[in-house]
Amino acid sequence: MYTSLLINIENGICTITINRPDKLNALNKTVMDELEAATAEIYSNPGIKSAIITGAGAKAFVAGADISEFQGLSNEQGMKLAQRGQEVFFKIEDCPKPIVAAVNGFALGGGCELAMACHFRIASANAKFGQPEVNLGLTPGYGGTQRLVQLVGKGRAIEMLISGNPIDAATALQYGLVNYVVSQEELIPKTKQILDLINTKAPIAIGGCIAAANAVFDQKIDGYATEVSEFGKCFVTADMKEGTSAFLEKRKANFTGK
Ligand code: COA
Repeated sequence: MYTSLLINIENGICTITINRPDKLNALNKTVMDELEAATAEIYSNPGIKSAIITGAGAKAFVAGADISEFQGLSNEQGMKLAQRGQEVFFKIEDCPKPIVAAVNGFALGGGCELAMACHFRIASANAKFGQPEVNLGLTPGYGGTQRLVQLVGKGRAIEMLISGNPIDAATALQYGLVNYVVSQEELIPKTKQILDLINTKAPIAIGGCIAAANAVFDQKIDGYATEVSEFGKCFVTADMKEGTSAFLEKRKANFTGK
């Protein structure tokens, strides 16, 4: 069904591997359409509790949007391309199931933007993050100007955006852009280990945490009010009853997603 993605579902974790290693996994139209379809499957498939997005090969996570699709576009076509990119990445960001970027190499341009649309990031030691669009006479278009400011702060973000200079994995860790840096061999096992733990938690509460955290940055929504609403919703779930009962009864909770 997919031509540019590899999909593997195991123990409730869906691993999506962007598979164009000869083009450093650049995001062309097909990859974006397939990422949208794979994300829709994460939303709808009850067998999936969480997901990993990574890149094929040892060199790149994603080296950007596919530059070969840029030439000759009009102002309107350029805007449409950005809107489409943002639309797909919002679906990833808004997914109530955790989606983690396992960044295995270059995460440049659209690759950095894709990693930032995920809920958090784990990098291998050879990873490099950057928004080199200024080198092409462009600004980022898939949400990079917004999410980079959110994640690393305005001063660091603007320096990265207007210098085009990438940062290495150690700097990304220091900036808070990634949560962990591990060896390339450890990248997927470490990511799975974290998701195995998250997958034991109450799914409705997880979705509520993601929605409330996202609302901090959504100027159309009051994040504190969203938190109140998501908190309240948990009180009528079986999982909240189970979780609080298990704590009080000093036993392990068994969550069902209801
Ligand atoms: N779009 C389309 N093709 C890309 C690409 C992109 N964003 N990034 C890499 N590729 C292709 C190259 O054109 C090359 O294809 P070819 O073998 O058919 O010529 C192949 O991937 C390998 O890349 P190459 O540049 O030869 O590898 P490298 O090790 O010399 O350099 C990078 C690696 C990441 C530094 C370099 O590929 C690069 O700068 N890529 C573009 C990054 C960028 O500007 N991203 C933002 C886009 S908006």
